[in-house]
Amino acid sequence: MISHKPGSMIAGLGTAVPEKVLTNFDLEKMVDTSDQWIRERSGIERRHILADGATNSDLGVEAARNAIADAGLKPEEVECIILATISPDNIFPATACRVQAKLGAVHAAAFDISAACSGFIYGLHLADSLIRGGTYKNVLVIGSEALSRFTDWQDRSTCVLFGDGAGAAVLVPSDGTRGILSTYIKSDGRLAELLRLPAGGASLPASRETVDGRLHTIKMEGREVFKHAVRTMIDAAKKAVRLAKLEFKDIDLLIPHQANIRIIEAIAERVHIGREKIVVNLQEYGNTSSATIPLALAEARSGGRLQSGTKCLLVAFGGGFTWASAIVQF
Ligand code: ACO
Repeated sequence: MISHKPGSMIAGLGTAVPEKVLTNFDLEKMVDTSDQWIRERSGIERRHILADGATNSDLGVEAARNAIADAGLKPEEVECIILATISPDNIFPATACRVQAKLGAVHAAAFDISAACSGFIYGLHLADSLIRGGTYKNVLVIGSEALSRFTDWQDRSTCVLFGDGAGAAVLVPSDGTRGILSTYIKSDGRLAELLRLPAGGASLPASRETVDGRLHTIKMEGREVFKHAVRTMIDAAKKAVRLAKLEFKDIDLLIPHQANIRIIEAIAERVHIGREKIVVNLQEYGNTSSATIPLALAEARSGGRLQSGTKCLLVAFGGGFTWASAIVQF
């Protein structure tokens, strides 16, 4: 795991969310649920849903354009594009390549990574290593999801949770003060069955039976996932803080994966981070998987919460299982 002096820093941030909003009240008309249940059990009030005909890469490229402009770069100067997603445009080609083409980033290498909700921090970890090792002078990391396309809109235990969105960051060599102070990534494939999309891959190709069985949508053992999410995110948070040679009292902002307010509160309580230091926006977007962290980072900045010197602890958990953390100083 990477720690020590910053090798890279975030020079630009960008986001994209679809205009269309689906509220808890809308969901009340679709499945046997209530606004009260969803708010009390998850904290979510609304989520944004991709328009018919729009794609994951449409969101990804909008977030990427905003991040590149924010970093003062032109698309053709981008050297590498890492796109984290579990809801790609196609199994192949990579959604990163679709984004590359739409962006006109003609000189870049582009590839996807699949680490579910931990994907953006996995991408930061990779990008930091590539810059630290001198391979690239800039890397565009995108978390982009079209989860509504893989949601079972008849399953109340999952359809109330997810939303669509994208966030992107441009990493460049650190200026010596700002930067990524530590990253930590981990996974446990033995728990893969607890959160998965069963059909459409090589193990269960698309057939009439898989479509009839609604097997092309997200399946989750919510209670089990909840338990593991709390335990592993606490562990990951501790690892990132220790690797950066910091203590929790040094952390200015906690930017957790936005899956469930009760998970976030359980983590914050265990690491003694006060409510005023936590960035929460799941009420507006729901769980956008790999996009939650960059969406929350950008929101923290637009809300004036990212000042010079602000130390952010990013922490996430997702299918795989995967979990990850990072400390980023602005
Ligand atoms: N509306 C009303 N009732 C519901 C709903 C709903 N939308 N969904 C479930 N229920 C019912 C259940 O049927 C159950 O009823 P029963 O007691 O009669 O059987 C009851 O509510 C309790 O269900 P639980 O699943 O135990 O509810 P829980 O409190 O665990 O909350 C939730 C469910 C919100 C899914 C929670 O478990 C959770 O957040 N899990 C973690 C999700 C997560 O973190 N995912 C991260 C990774 S996602 C990724 O990687 C793509």
